[in-house]
Amino acid sequence: MPFIRNIWYVAGHAEEAGAEPFARILLEEPVVIFRTEDGVINALDDRCPHRMAPLHKGKVIGDSIQCPYHGLRFDGAGRCVHMPLGGEAPPRAGVKAYPIVERHSLLWIWMGDPALADPAMIPDYSDRDDPSIGWFTGVLRCKANYQLLVDNLLDLTHSEFLHPILSSDGWAGRNRQTVTQDGNMITVLNRAEDDNVLPIMKIMKPHLGDIGTTIQTERWEAPSLIRLSVDFFSGGEELIVPSAHMLTPETETSTHYFVRGGQTVDPANAQLTTESREGVLAVFTHQDIPIIEAQQQNLNGRDIMDFQPAVLSADRAAILARRHVVKLLRQEQSAVTVAAE
Ligand code: FES
Ligand SMILES: [Fe+2]
Repeated sequence: MPFIRNIWYVAGHAEEAGAEPFARILLEEPVVIFRTEDGVINALDDRCPHRMAPLHKGKVIGDSIQCPYHGLRFDGAGRCVHMPLGGEAPPRAGVKAYPIVERHSLLWIWMGDPALADPAMIPDYSDRDDPSIGWFTGVLRCKANYQLLVDNLLDLTHSEFLHPILSSDGWAGRNRQTVTQDGNMITVLNRAEDDNVLPIMKIMKPHLGDIGTTIQTERWEAPSLIRLSVDFFSGGEELIVPSAHMLTPETETSTHYFVRGGQTVDPANAQLTTESREGVLAVFTHQDIPIIEAQQQNLNGRDIMDFQPAVLSADRAAILARRHVVKLLRQEQSAVTVAAE
C-alpha cells in the first residue's frame, strides 16, 4: 500500500541533529538531515546530483553541506552554492529539499508536495516542556510495515501475554474499552476498576495500593502517531505514566520507531529517568518488536488484510485507523489526479 505523503512525519529527535549530518531512509527515500552552523535544520535528498554520492558522508560548512566526493556544496533549499571548479552551477546541479521543522524537540518532515506543507498542521507535542515529567527518548527500528506497529499499540490487550510486568492475570477480559473517532484522531480508553495494580507501577512507586483503577488513554493521529497515558489511582495516590510512539515508514516492510517516555515519580531524578528508559526500551526491543517482525515474516510479502484475519472486539481502534488511512490515501490520490488534469 502506498504511504500518505502530504502529512507531517517525525524524522527524528532534535537531539540527533548535532554538528554531523545524518542519513535516514524515510518513505523509501534517502534523506540527509543537517544543522547549519547557525543551528537551522535542513533535509535534502541524500544523493548528490553529480555522481549520486551520499551527501551525509560530507560535512557542514556555514549554511551548506559539502559533498564528500568532488566538493559541490548545497544550501538548505537544495541549490548548488559552491563549485570547486569555478563557473556557474549547471542546471541539473540542484537537489530536492524537504520541508522540515524543529518543534517540541522533534524533527517534523513533509515528504509530499512542499507547497502544501503548513507548519500549523504539526501535532501538538508541547508537553515536552512540562516540568512535572522526566522525559527520555529512544530510536528503535522494526523490520515490519508501520501498520503492524499501529495495530500493536492500539490493542493493548496483548500486554497480559507479551508483557506480564505491564498487566495482570485476566486483565484483558476485565478491561472495559471505548473507542471514539474525531476526524484524523482516534481515542481509545481502557478502564479496569478495583483491579490489581500493574507490577511496573508498584516498582516505580512502591507505596501505591495493591488495588485501584487503571486507565489507559490512547490517542492515534493519522497515520502513525500514538500518545499513551497509563494512569493508576488508588485511595489518594496516583501514578501517571505518559509516552509517545512516533512511527515513520522506512520502507514497505520496515519502520522507524521514535519513542518518548516520561516518569512522573521524581522528574528531576535523572537516574530514575534513565532506569525508566532502559525498562521501556527493553519491553519494545525484546517483546513487541520480535513478535511484530515474526508477523511480518509470516505475511510473506502480502498485506495482512489479504488473509481476512479473525477480528476481536479489541481490534476496533486498529480497524478504524486502517480504514481512515485508506480514506486519506484515496483523498490524496484523487487530489493529485485533479491537479494533473
Ligand atoms: S558526487 Fe557529489 S560532487 Fe561529485
Ligand atoms: Fe506491547
